[in-house]
Amino acid sequence: MNTSNRLPEPSADALAHSSQLIDLIRAEITQSGGAIPFSRYMELALYAPGLGYYSAGATKFGEAGDFITAPELGSLFADGVAQAVSALIRELGPDAEFIELGGGSGAFAEDALKRLDELDALPARYRILEPSAQLRQRQQERIAALDDRLSARVEWLDRPPHEPFGGVIFANEVLDALPTTRFRIHDGEVFEEGIAIDDDGSLRTARIQTDALVAQAVRGLERNLGIELPDGYTSELLPQLPYWIQAVCGGLRRGLALFVDYGYPRREFYLPERSDGTLVCHYRHRAHGDALHLPGLQDITAFVDFTAVAEAGHHAGLELAGYSSQAQFLLGNGLPERVESLLAGADTEAQYRLTQQVKRLTLPGDMGERFQVMGLSRGINAEALFATGDRRHRL
Ligand SMILES: C[S@@+](CC[C@H](N)C(=O)[O-])C[C@H]1O[C@@H](n2cnc3c(N)ncnc32)[C@H](O)[C@@H]1O
Repeated sequence: MNTSNRLPEPSADALAHSSQLIDLIRAEITQSGGAIPFSRYMELALYAPGLGYYSAGATKFGEAGDFITAPELGSLFADGVAQAVSALIRELGPDAEFIELGGGSGAFAEDALKRLDELDALPARYRILEPSAQLRQRQQERIAALDDRLSARVEWLDRPPHEPFGGVIFANEVLDALPTTRFRIHDGEVFEEGIAIDDDGSLRTARIQTDALVAQAVRGLERNLGIELPDGYTSELLPQLPYWIQAVCGGLRRGLALFVDYGYPRREFYLPERSDGTLVCHYRHRAHGDALHLPGLQDITAFVDFTAVAEAGHHAGLELAGYSSQAQFLLGNGLPERVESLLAGADTEAQYRLTQQVKRLTLPGDMGERFQVMGLSRGINAEALFATGDRRHRL
């Protein structure tokens, strides 16, 4: 779907930035003999050093950016997660760590630290794994403004911790930002979607030979679902997910990993009507499906197959602690009581803002049902966090 002509026009500087990135992508396509896999395109469009959407200076989050994530709405989301894991952090003892993957603007870290402090559940260290140097700097500036007792606990990681630790791993909207493979069924065979250069020099999609790992993964999910995907069916999968989950959770000796994102159980992900996959791009609060539009200036994401996350967790030796909608997770972990106490001391305007936040976080037509929370645990029982609305049976 090409919706580019209905999207807002970027400034001349922004266009020049995108052109630089397109040149880099073209050079890689040429070097690779005419096409690169979509996953590599997405990696460059989001993370090419200095040029990719997450690596460069775009505002990204919030009203002035391209999209709003739950932590950007206000403190309630981080409050809710902090409340949910606070007993666990206390149980794990004074060495417990909190590891946040993909810290965004730092809003979640700031609010979660403040709330964990109030709940007497501050972790020994709060570590943020953030691949974008630009976002890391924004997070560092934000954390530096906090009370020393909080900011002194925060560290940044270049890679997942190898050394064993007990604690909580948390990721909001990180899985959807992992460079995804796009595949297409053509004449009964599995091909990968690639990106090539058109006659006029612009980027276009192309069908390319897929490697055995992707073909096997597609055939595996067909077997798993008892279906045969029809000709022309195009969708996404993350063949690297088991390795990624193993890498980020490998050091977790005791504790819980929580993944929050938009997604579905596998049988809903590969529905016949989703025959062009689940890619969503965000540019100045417009969602559309054209991943080739203005590389470097827009976010590119894909929905998450949560069955695949559960399987990857299982391969990494983790238990599936629970799976629920974001609304059920927050409502079941103290959100109503928290809101009640905040409303009591608030003026009319603050009350309105709180109510709006609750609606956006929990209403089914908003983030409440679109976002899911999955918990993977090791050495502890964290099922109580999912006591309200556990949907593991749907995976
Ligand atoms: C959509 S943003 C979400 C940011 C934040 N969690 C929030 O909810 O506002 C995706 C974040 O994941 C980060 N990210 C991307 N790939 C990652 C990876 N492999 N490991 C950790 N973080 C990653 C991005 O740099 C960015 O901070």
